[in-house]
Amino acid sequence: MLSLHTLANLIVTSFLLAPPTTALPLWPNNTTPAAVPTACSSPTSNPTAEIAPACQSFYPTSYRIMNSRYPTWDQTPLHGNQDFVMLLRQRADTFQVATQVQFDGLGDVAPPNSSSTCRLQFQLPAKDMQTVLGPAPVVDVYQVEREAGSPASWSTYEPALAASSNGSVSAPRLFGSINGSLAAQETAWNQSVGLVDVGATFCNATLTWQMAMAIDGGDEVNYWDFIGVDPPFNPVQGFRVITGC
Ligand SMILES: *[C@@H]1O[C@H](CO)[C@@H](O)[C@H](O)[C@H]1NC(C)=O
Ligand SMILES: *[C@@H]1O[C@H](CO)[C@@H](O)[C@H](O)[C@H]1NC(C)=O
Ligand SMILES: *[C@@H]1O[C@H](CO)[C@@H](O)[C@H](O)[C@H]1NC(C)=O
Ligand SMILES: *[C@@H]1O[C@H](CO)[C@@H](O)[C@H](O)[C@H]1NC(C)=O
Ligand SMILES: *[C@@H]1O[C@H](CO)[C@@H](O)[C@H](O)[C@H]1NC(C)=O
Ligand SMILES: *[C@@H]1O[C@H](CO)[C@@H](O)[C@H](O)[C@H]1NC(C)=O
Repeated sequence: MLSLHTLANLIVTSFLLAPPTTALPLWPNNTTPAAVPTACSSPTSNPTAEIAPACQSFYPTSYRIMNSRYPTWDQTPLHGNQDFVMLLRQRADTFQVATQVQFDGLGDVAPPNSSSTCRLQFQLPAKDMQTVLGPAPVVDVYQVEREAGSPASWSTYEPALAASSNGSVSAPRLFGSINGSLAAQETAWNQSVGLVDVGATFCNATLTWQMAMAIDGGDEVNYWDFIGVDPPFNPVQGFRVITGC
């Protein structure tokens, strides 16, 4: 059986109208950052940043893949997965892939009209759990309002909804960005143990973010996927919400 990762790579390589001009390896050997700990080489079982004892952390209840080529598709193992992030953008005439990350069950820390602050954080994945390609794999993150468990496909991707609504849906405010380039990841590992603080918002029983590549890749594809983002996967990586500290 194909793993999600293999499946994703097949989809990317088979559907792109204009393939990358150069065959990009998963992680070019000569640019691999030496400082990035992996699940195998890490000195401790958990190299991720320490969470202060006062903090409560929450992990996503769902990850949803949103593909512009299949605007209403929410069904396949890839699109309806619980454990996989995929972001892809090349040119205006090629398809895009975005991802929705939803957290549910924060009701205990977020009573109605709560004024408590929730922070969205991103723990960079280990290098052998991700594929990064393209000249500018920078991810824009938008907070959206969605019911827990509601369908998620390109037709519910908020920037696309706004673009096709002719003004009746306003474009979402940019919540934060994550620079996935290898150099930026290395800097984040050096400076903050690979932890990226994406942004802060008011806590709520359900919190939802959608994300996609910020710009076109041109002749190449701006692309980032990663797996192993679902606890109890260890070390914990990917998105989390923290509050109370
Ligand atoms: C990277 O190293 C592996 C193992 O040594 C080799 O199989 C692969 O071809 C190399 N890739 C590049 C892009 O040099
Ligand atoms: C929350 O705020 C809304 C709007 O200000 C108000 O109508 C509602 O009664 C508030 N709910 C609670 C539980 O305080
Ligand atoms: C807050 O959570 C409620 C209950 O799950 C949900 O209906 C609402 O859309 C959420 N609001 C935001 C801003 O995410
Ligand atoms: C969008 O709105 C403008 C101004 O209201 C209108 O002229 C135009 O026909 C609309 N386009 C579509 C596709 O609805
Ligand atoms: C992303 O990081 C790379 C490497 O540090 C940098 O050259 C580039 O300007 C950054 N892009 C953005 C949009 O911040
Ligand atoms: C990260 O730290 C290593 C080891 O100190 C250093 O060699 C490398 O240049 C640093 N890279 C960045 C982008 O800060």
